[in-house]
Amino acid sequence: MNNTYPEICKKQLGFKNENQYLKIVKRNIPDNSEFFFQKISKFLPTIFGFISRSNAKKNILKLFETKIPSELKNEFLYDFWIQDMSDLCKLFCDFLKDSRVSFWIGTNRNCNRYHVDMVPFRLLVTYSGQGTELLPDNAANRNAFLEGKSNEFIVKDKTKIKYINNWDIALFRGGKKGVLHKTPDSAIKNSKSILMRIDSSSFLEEINKINRLHQLEVKA
Ligand SMILES: [Fe+2]
Repeated sequence: MNNTYPEICKKQLGFKNENQYLKIVKRNIPDNSEFFFQKISKFLPTIFGFISRSNAKKNILKLFETKIPSELKNEFLYDFWIQDMSDLCKLFCDFLKDSRVSFWIGTNRNCNRYHVDMVPFRLLVTYSGQGTELLPDNAANRNAFLEGKSNEFIVKDKTKIKYINNWDIALFRGGKKGVLHKTPDSAIKNSKSILMRIDSSSFLEEINKINRLHQLEVKA
């Protein structure tokens, strides 16, 4: 279960050629993780930006620089966590064969309806709080989902709902046939839950483009 870095690389990189919509790489939770993230969560509403393959750790440290107080930066887990996020950004760059990725981390998790992600691929890690809620197809009414109905119509069998464990790496293939998932209710209510999301660089480029257009509209 405690996958080494090269094993994780192999598992992740192989996903592109596999016939599945979700791959979970299991990992051990480091000691004192929950206590550390409880302290750090209040400084993490939302942080996002581009992370490059060649300067991943530097880029992440820069994004966090002014957000995290120095006493927390001195804790052992801080560097371990920063290293983990930069390793995963580098892996995702290799996976997409791109020189940079879009990075997002935060406690603002509020996708409360089951959905699929309309992106080619996405990597998620929940570092703290309940992980992403998964609804397997054999427990779902996909037609109800396509018709825009609410969760109570989409869920056929509540007992089959699963949650991704903390620190496990979840690689999603998006699109219409993707795995139905949502933010667990506990994470919507509890602002101490911390999720990291890595997407292709075009994801943030599109958001920036939309924001710029919106600013032009406001000014006009
Ligand atoms: Fe999603």
